[in-house]
Amino acid sequence: MERFRVVGGGRLQGVVRVTGAKNSVLKLMAAALLAEGETVLADVPDILDTRIMAELLRRLGCRVDHDAAAATVRIDVPGELGSEADYDLVRRMRASICVLGPLLARCGKVSVARPGGDNIGSRPLDMHIAGLQKLGADVESEHGNIVATAPSGLTGATIWLDFPSVGATENILMAAVLARGTTVIDNAAREPEIVDLCLMLEQMGARISGAGTSTLEVEGVERLSPTHHVSVPDRIVAGTWAYAAAMTRGDVTVRNGRAEHLEIALDKLATAGADVSRVEVDGEPGFRVVMDGRPRAVDVVTLPFPGFATDLLPMVLALNSVAEGAAIVTENVFEARFMFVDELARLGADVRTDGHHCLVRGRERLSGAPVRAHDIRAGAGLVIAGLVADGTTTVGDAYHVDRGYPGFAEQLRSLGVEVTRETDPDADLLDG
Ligand code: EPU
Repeated sequence: MERFRVVGGGRLQGVVRVTGAKNSVLKLMAAALLAEGETVLADVPDILDTRIMAELLRRLGCRVDHDAAAATVRIDVPGELGSEADYDLVRRMRASICVLGPLLARCGKVSVARPGGDNIGSRPLDMHIAGLQKLGADVESEHGNIVATAPSGLTGATIWLDFPSVGATENILMAAVLARGTTVIDNAAREPEIVDLCLMLEQMGARISGAGTSTLEVEGVERLSPTHHVSVPDRIVAGTWAYAAAMTRGDVTVRNGRAEHLEIALDKLATAGADVSRVEVDGEPGFRVVMDGRPRAVDVVTLPFPGFATDLLPMVLALNSVAEGAAIVTENVFEARFMFVDELARLGADVRTDGHHCLVRGRERLSGAPVRAHDIRAGAGLVIAGLVADGTTTVGDAYHVDRGYPGFAEQLRSLGVEVTRETDPDADLLDG
């Protein structure tokens, strides 16, 4: 068990590159299951979650070769696939649930363990299940698994989502591409990762219209072919760098960061007083964030894309905790995301929650302390909060951050701040 050790007082300065998005690559890896043969994904981040997904695909019978140095994953999908995803992998990474749609479409049956709740809240799968049922699948819950069958194939249907769920949109989409006839997904998620998945599926031969809008229309085809695809850049990692730059009164250029995927988040930084500009570095688009002086507090409301991303909630809370003035931050996507607030308070932040709202009164500085990461984004948020705290902050359960941020400590050091990793002597006590 490791923890981050953060020495406060540094200022981030320099250029950092973001790789492909975790939340796209995991789904692209699942989408590879839809076609027999070798699919190659490029700009794949070297993070824990891509390794877990590689292991899951291997257990389904695929040959998976992850070349971390080249940032590629080669997935060789056999004609006959296994159709069971066990609890030991699914509980380590809930995104495993995204094999549900493609396996059902390919094999006519699938059994995937239910992931259960996690540290950002209860995360039901009712919309995934209702969508697959609409396509003609029989779905049962058996011994902790979701078991879906469609022996004579799936049939297109019109599906309304109660909420634009990212995961439900993806699972239904990946099932619908091989269904008979037309599927319409209304109130679909519009995240850039959904658009990326649509792009890859189209390259494989799928017929989809409306990517990036609330209505996806899919004309089912008989079979798909393997492809080569470069993942969309990670907007949440890019946003983390942007907020860290502003908080530390730094100057950071985020190479391969797509400003158009972060419009509200970057606009909030401009309101906070940062100078945000689009730049090109070595032929790649990116953006630069420069902050002179103390940020001003900014009100934020999280919403599905194109709203302010819930995954950047810890970053904006951290920014507001050292900003001038007070702000209200409202969370609308996950019920327990504010668990992070108690850890931030240990660093001296003046934060108070009431239901979906959090009032933050900015302080001049935070005060270093031992804290603990509850999830990927909370972990990253605490590390950057540690940069504006006096003294040393340790962030326990570093593995959460490893799930989504490739080489986080190394990248922070390359930007001039003192962040290292060490064995956590208190790890056993923390989980007791
Ligand atoms: N929901 C339901 N029923 C469903 C599906 C979702 O009630 O059948 C609810 C959830 O409980 C939640 C809301 O709908 O309250 C949104 O959930 P969504 O399905 O959109 O999220 P997800 O697919 O489970 C992905 C990302 C999350 C990110 C959210 C929102 C992946 C692997 N995960 O989760 O990323 O926060 O979309 O943008 O893509 C992270 O990377 O740290 C992370 C948590």
